[in-house]
Amino acid sequence: MSHDDFPTDRPAVVTCGLPYANGDLHIGHLRTYVSGDAYARALETLGQETAFVSGSDMHGTPVAVNAEKEGVSPEEFALDHHETYAGTFPKFNVEFDNYGHTHEPTNTELTREIVRTLDEAGHVYEKEIQVAYDPTDDQWLPDRYVEGTCPYCGEQARGDECDEGCGRHLEPGEIEDPVSAISGNPAEYRERTHKFFRVSEFEDYLTGFLDRLEGTSNAKNQPREWIENGLQDWCITRDMDWGIDYPGEDGDDLVLYVWVDAPIEYVASTKQYTERVGADTFDWETVWKANAPDADDPAAADAETWAGRDTGEIVHIIGRDIIQHHTVFWPSMLRAAGYNEPRAVMASGFVNLDGAAFSTSRDRAVWADEYLDEGFDPDLVRYYLTTTGGFQQDVDFSWEKFQERVNGELVGTLGNFAYRSLLFAARNYGGTPDATTSEEVASRIEEAVEDFEAAVNDYSLKRAGDAAVALAGFGNEYIQRNEPWNLTDDDPDRAEQVIYDCVQVAKAVAVLAAPILPGKAQRLWEQLGEDGSVHDASLEACLESPPGDFGEPDELFEKIEDDRVEELSAEMEASAGPADDGEADDGEADGESADDAEDEPAPDLEPIADDRISFEDFQDLDIRVGEIEAAEPIEGADDLARLEVDIGVERRQIVAGIKQLHDLDELAGTRAVIVANLEKAELFGVESNGMLLAAGEDADILTTHGDSAPGTKVR
Ligand code: MSP
Ligand code: ZN
Repeated sequence: MSHDDFPTDRPAVVTCGLPYANGDLHIGHLRTYVSGDAYARALETLGQETAFVSGSDMHGTPVAVNAEKEGVSPEEFALDHHETYAGTFPKFNVEFDNYGHTHEPTNTELTREIVRTLDEAGHVYEKEIQVAYDPTDDQWLPDRYVEGTCPYCGEQARGDECDEGCGRHLEPGEIEDPVSAISGNPAEYRERTHKFFRVSEFEDYLTGFLDRLEGTSNAKNQPREWIENGLQDWCITRDMDWGIDYPGEDGDDLVLYVWVDAPIEYVASTKQYTERVGADTFDWETVWKANAPDADDPAAADAETWAGRDTGEIVHIIGRDIIQHHTVFWPSMLRAAGYNEPRAVMASGFVNLDGAAFSTSRDRAVWADEYLDEGFDPDLVRYYLTTTGGFQQDVDFSWEKFQERVNGELVGTLGNFAYRSLLFAARNYGGTPDATTSEEVASRIEEAVEDFEAAVNDYSLKRAGDAAVALAGFGNEYIQRNEPWNLTDDDPDRAEQVIYDCVQVAKAVAVLAAPILPGKAQRLWEQLGEDGSVHDASLEACLESPPGDFGEPDELFEKIEDDRVEELSAEMEASAGPADDGEADDGEADGESADDAEDEPAPDLEPIADDRISFEDFQDLDIRVGEIEAAEPIEGADDLARLEVDIGVERRQIVAGIKQLHDLDELAGTRAVIVANLEKAELFGVESNGMLLAAGEDADILTTHGDSAPGTKVR
């Protein structure tokens, strides 16, 4: 089933993975929140009614263990962090419609109601299992209270996840050589009765769900693999007293596993939003429950059952470490309770340092507060986090790369264009001159709007950001080509026309950049003399005439100087210490669970296409060996390069998306494989006559093994 394009006439909820209320936020966490905020804003720009919600994850051992180490109650400890987070997000222009927490009654009541439904419908059973126990301290050791060896890969792991090795979720009793994370005492296994949710019953449903699911491909492909290996039922209770009591069993020291009540906060937080603004403005039930198939409807696996159903649009934004929880456990719970299913899961890659995950205990991270203390504008890191590489790719944070993106695209392209156009307009005409948008510029703006719409529908924040920056790049090229400064005397009408066009482009850039650069886009909006908020503007505003008067602008962005970067890099190196050596972290819970430096992250492989093509179809392709003779960046384009390629018969100009991924100066002389009879295309105003073949998101250029001459046919 394919979903209707955004905007639909049904309300959407965009959520971000809840941060554990147990430590400081780093910019790895921020990748989830900034992306969620940008995506929610982008949907609204498209005209999609959207609520953007999240909350703090208060329960579970990630909080309890850290609170115990600090000697405070988990409640006090978690509330304290919750308040800090609630204050930090707006500083990064992350503005939730509701930010709650899992310990509030809205969540605890809803959780108990949902679990009761699951239980009554026969989806829960009791089983005796082995649970780690510290006999010296007389304490049960659930999840992060216990450490040991992963039974699957042999790496050091936590009780509930193999955070240093294979990344698997571990069930109680699975970890080998258990030791208490608090006392260091060796643990033993003791028998306990626990509740299990029959996830295995949902195999058919989940298979259908994954076919319908949109978002990033890792969120579809990884769970497909888990399902193929056989789904295990899921233990949903823990021996501890911090958490939500299993309904009907108060008194008992048995609480729900944190991963039961955590995603329910997505619903609870939306409900709180409705309670605040009224159901006429936003109705949580329309999104989460209305028109869902009955909980026991076996047809819920089928695409036809969902097709055209008037249900809400649920989009989850998370990091790649918690895909399983969002694409296996959570949709099974939703289905068992008769709720709607998510439309999309966007799972980002990790933010690493030197190829290894951030680590709270080793202070190997760039902290949210540290970034702000440096005085950097929040929009810069938003841009960096949402548009560096593909969304699924891990990003190695570096201040040099940060500087390069800021100075190149934000200062050099976007800021430069806005400043020079508005300054010229203000000085010569006191604002927007008297004209209307030229055909060329109107159609270029339309193209940018279409790119933006397509990017949002493809869940690509990078391409949404590129649409804005590329439009500014066009603006720079346009003003340069038309030289209005030479026209003001000889051809004043033409000069007015050119500057009017530039102001129009600047207005469109403000609208398209607003989701990713909310503060800077608003500033540009105000410089243009616009009233109100750019965040209330729709895509149509891109082509609506700009207002008349405005004064001289100031520069939107400031260049980051080299010595600043050197200093920051040195500081980072000094405080970060050596890269992760693969040994266990001390169990500080900060959501770090990326692969080790040595381990290549598992590639998210797309399934092989179902449809076979005939040999004749293949022969239609004219594929040739080429030799790259020259490569240069295309100004303003984020990742495009212009190549000159000798394909034997002739020399071709080819545009390829490899600018960020290769050192262009070193490409001359490289043999490459070229599709020579692809129809011509124009990218960034540059004609591309053929296509360079490259593998994967790193654009690994395909070359020849021997020394076939340029022009040789590939068959
Ligand atoms: N509390 C759970 C999520 C519950 S959702 C119902 C959790 N918390 S966390 O604090 O560990 O992570 C919060 C978010 O930050 C998650 O989306 C997680 O994937 C993301 N990240 C945490 N560290 C990260 C990096 N180093 N890089 C990128 N994202 C990371 O998981
Ligand atoms: Zn493992």
